[in-house]
Amino acid sequence: MADRSKSIELLNKGVAKEIETVLQYLYFQFHFEDKGYTHLARMYKNIAIKEMMHIDMLSDRILFLRGDVIMKPQSDIIYLEKVNGRVDLDITKVLNISADMESKTVDIYNEFAKQCGELGDATSKRLFERLIEIEEEHQDAFEVESDNCTRFGETYLALQTIQREKGNDESGHEDIGME
Ligand SMILES: [Fe+2]
Ligand SMILES: [Fe+2]
Repeated sequence: MADRSKSIELLNKGVAKEIETVLQYLYFQFHFEDKGYTHLARMYKNIAIKEMMHIDMLSDRILFLRGDVIMKPQSDIIYLEKVNGRVDLDITKVLNISADMESKTVDIYNEFAKQCGELGDATSKRLFERLIEIEEEHQDAFEVESDNCTRFGETYLALQTIQREKGNDESGHEDIGME
């Protein structure tokens, strides 16, 4: 087998990015759930699960190439600011941070896919390209929600809260299934 140490390094950078993303989205999910924004809590939970599956996909490839998986987030997560001693959940800001994370991941994976192509590692290249497609879908989902918040403001958010009060809690503590 050709020396795949460079591919393994790139794949592990992908793992680090995905771990960071999982932790960030779970953190946001906890706060959405706490404030009763069940639709957004559900969305963040589902996307966090998808990101976890990306770690799995990258890890499979690393182990096939006889490397080992490094389980470390790329960076610390972004924490929400406190105002008057309480966490300030600025929803549009959170959605924009998330869309930006996806956009940066797409840029990084495009670069990694290119490098894997140059290394003659077509399978790793295809893996990054597949992930790019999914990250772009996430980016789009966050941008749509951010746009909804801007267009409908508090009415949009209030509807989600009412939904919870009516007992239609979709945050799904017990539901870890995929859609
Ligand atoms: Fe991902
Ligand atoms: Fe993503």
